Amino acid sequence: MSKAPIAIVGTGIAGLSAAQALRAAGQSIQLFDKGRGLGGRMTSKRSDAGHLDLGTQYFTARDRRFTETVHQWQAEGWAAEWSPNLFQSRNGQLSPSADEQLRWVGIPRMDAIAAGLLGELPVKLSCRVTDVFRGEEYWTLVDAEGNNHGPFSQVVIAIPAPQASALLAAAPKLAAVAASVAMEPTWSVALSFAKPLETSVDACFVQDDALDWLARHHSRPGRDEHLDTWVLHASSAWSRQHVDMPKESVIEHLHGAFAELIDCVVPAPQFTLAHRWLYARPNQSHEWGALADTHLGLYACGDWCLSGRVEGAWLSGQEAARRLLEQL
Ligand code: FAD
Ligand code: NAI
Repeated sequence: MSKAPIAIVGTGIAGLSAAQALRAAGQSIQLFDKGRGLGGRMTSKRSDAGHLDLGTQYFTARDRRFTETVHQWQAEGWAAEWSPNLFQSRNGQLSPSADEQLRWVGIPRMDAIAAGLLGELPVKLSCRVTDVFRGEEYWTLVDAEGNNHGPFSQVVIAIPAPQASALLAAAPKLAAVAASVAMEPTWSVALSFAKPLETSVDACFVQDDALDWLARHHSRPGRDEHLDTWVLHASSAWSRQHVDMPKESVIEHLHGAFAELIDCVVPAPQFTLAHRWLYARPNQSHEWGALADTHLGLYACGDWCLSGRVEGAWLSGQEAARRLLEQL
């Protein structure tokens, strides 16, 4: 029998980063994701107002390897620089807040990067993995419908920590580390207006009660939807306090906060949407890189192993792949 492939659970940036590194080393891979699309928190949601980036808004690159990778993505046409007219709002005071930071986005939408990274790699979407167990030699994955998948030689779990701990049960130490990570929710709301709002704000860091961030969708390169759509993110604290609030109430509240903050008239939106990210960000950074039980062949990666940002997720996927490859 030829060598069994490596299973990767999660097609966010961490899982795809690991997949790329393993494929480059000549390994065969099978990816799984419970979602209908790729990208995890870096996905774009299809809606009546077009494809909307409700999760990751942009990313920065500070690590040398990640910076080089982002330049490759740019050369592939998957990513572009985004230079918004930046503002900040503190205690209700809106003011310009330009800076020198290079910020990147996927084009024409955030999940273009995930699609590019996946390329021709085999993936099973809409497949929630519920159990990961090892027989004498190989791993088997079980999905929520009771189907078995395998055999696999190694398994990489690339999902948020609270979800990862259950799938790491075969390595109790890894499961305990993942279980120790708390992740905060974020409510994300899109408001689309028929006529462009009369403001020069493209994006704003907010330090008020409910809002944390807002951005004008069209200000990013490659977006050509006909409505003027704004994406608002609630702060972690507000999102936690209102985690079970009905979507209509979340939209109403954040719409009100936006109308108070922005320096123009805000009419009734033509289209609204709310999305709750239950595991949006780890409540602190870690320096684990990735988790590994090299004896068993079980690995875990994700933003929660490092910085809680796209860069951290990508680096963590690289580290999981590196640890796995050095065992072969
Ligand atoms: P994820 O993207 O969460 O990927 C995990 C994948 O695993 C998902 O696709 C999920 O469907 C899948 N999955 C989970 N459980 C299972 C299972 N049991 N079986 C199969 N599949 C499963 N970062 C920045 O750098 N800049 C930003 O501006 C920014 N803004 C953000 C705004 C919001 C609202 C959110 C939520 C996040 C933001 N982030 C930002 C953080 C960034 O999105 C994450 O750090 C990064 O995308 C995490 O990637 P990941 O691969 O670790 O996890
Ligand atoms: P960055 O360097 O642009 O921002 C880091 C932080 O610095 C910002 O959150 C903001 O508080 C501050 N900041 C940066 N530029 C500013 C400016 N011009 N004016 C005022 N404040 C400014 O990007 P980095 O380090 O890559 O961080 C990623 C972003 O993703 C952060 O904004 C972070 O809050 C956000 N994020 C959001 C998540 C969520 O669930 N809502 C999850 C993970 C990241």
